[in-house]
Amino acid sequence: MIFITGGAGFIGGNFVHHWFERLAKLGLPPEPVLVFDKLTYAGNPLTIKVHLEAGRATLIQADIADRDAVRAALAQHQPRAILHFAAESHVDRSIHGPGEFIHTNMVGTFCLIEEARAYWGALPAADKAAFRFLHVSTDEVYGSLSDTDPAFNETTAYAPNSPYSASKAGSDHLVRAYHHTYGFPTLTTNCSNNYGPYHFPEKLIPLMILNALDGKPLPVYGDGLNVRDWLFVRDHCEAICQVLEKGRLGETYNVGGKNEVKNIDVVTTICRKLDALRPKATGQYEDQITYVTDRPGHDRRYAIDPSKIEREIGWQPAETFTSGIDKTVQWFLDNTEWIDSVRSGAYRDWLNTNYQSRVA
Ligand code: NAD
Ligand code: DAU
Repeated sequence: MIFITGGAGFIGGNFVHHWFERLAKLGLPPEPVLVFDKLTYAGNPLTIKVHLEAGRATLIQADIADRDAVRAALAQHQPRAILHFAAESHVDRSIHGPGEFIHTNMVGTFCLIEEARAYWGALPAADKAAFRFLHVSTDEVYGSLSDTDPAFNETTAYAPNSPYSASKAGSDHLVRAYHHTYGFPTLTTNCSNNYGPYHFPEKLIPLMILNALDGKPLPVYGDGLNVRDWLFVRDHCEAICQVLEKGRLGETYNVGGKNEVKNIDVVTTICRKLDALRPKATGQYEDQITYVTDRPGHDRRYAIDPSKIEREIGWQPAETFTSGIDKTVQWFLDNTEWIDSVRSGAYRDWLNTNYQSRVA
């Protein structure tokens, strides 16, 4: 079985779906998963309900920084691999309150990897040789590109600019050091911006879809010309499966779909899709676009050079930005139960914290 931290979040939850669908397509039995998740505001068991109810997935609600809980879960479930998705993941939240990011992304990763190393060290030789610890990280550790800089590759120097990316960079360095020092069997992936089903609506794409449908302003930070390199979440999940199977120990793999898009173009694309699928009584969704005060320290451009994972692993994304955004907008139109479940009082508090003080 495999042990998935953060498996009730956006990418971890999609990964659980992808894992079972992939095994079924390959004609393989459903290897069970243990989801180890603190269920913060970003974790939602509804995302993986179908697998929990079918008994293929088990959920333990606990903090990766709770070493006793990690140790007990490893001893009980005896995984062959740990896939580490759990993190505080939103840049704006890290600007308002960095403490949680240090706790989970750095201290939490340390606690998890220490317990994982002890567990791995005591495995019989064959299980020890087969064991993997795959750390899911981000392209934000590389900092910001100008319009003409080449895309990030695996040798680009780290230059994190936000408390979020600094805490992820710290966790990447720990993982690297555990391989180098202890021979611990690590793999690291650094991926670009994901989007798709179950995306928590604090992030650009789901926020814009839901604000548009609610008739609210669409808050574009700064001049709207920042660039992100978008990857449909299932393409990221498939990359993780392939790196787990074929990745070289101690290596890092950059994951991206060569879909660089300016923020304002992302927002207008969403507006036009909604105009077609759910037209307004009067006017167009673009009328709701509002330029607001920029994010402090806002990275200008991210772009991933995925040639290493393409060459060594043979991974290629299946979706373009056009096909992926179509699926995403349709999913948010169709899944009101899930959307209602995440728009709690705490979510509304966050919208007030982040947007009330931004000047239009
Ligand atoms: P998310 O915020 O949607 O989900 C994070 C999950 O981790 C939640 O289920 C939450 O409950 C859980 N969690 C948080 N703190 C925890 C703790 N202390 N102990 C146990 N569980 C905890 O994040 P996401 O967007 O799904 O990102 C998953 C991973 O992928 C993160 O490591 C992130 O840095 C990385 N990543 C994200 C993107 C992206 O575009 N979203 C891109 C590249 C890499
Ligand atoms: O690059 C990978 C990273 O992508 C992940 O590591 C992070 O976990 C993930 O949150 C994401 O970070 P970003 O900061 O790029 O994503 P976000 O959706 O918050 O913002 C995308 C862009 O849109 C960014 O330039 C800021 C802008 N933005 C965002 C919000 C929420 C707006 O203009 N308005 C908004 O309201």
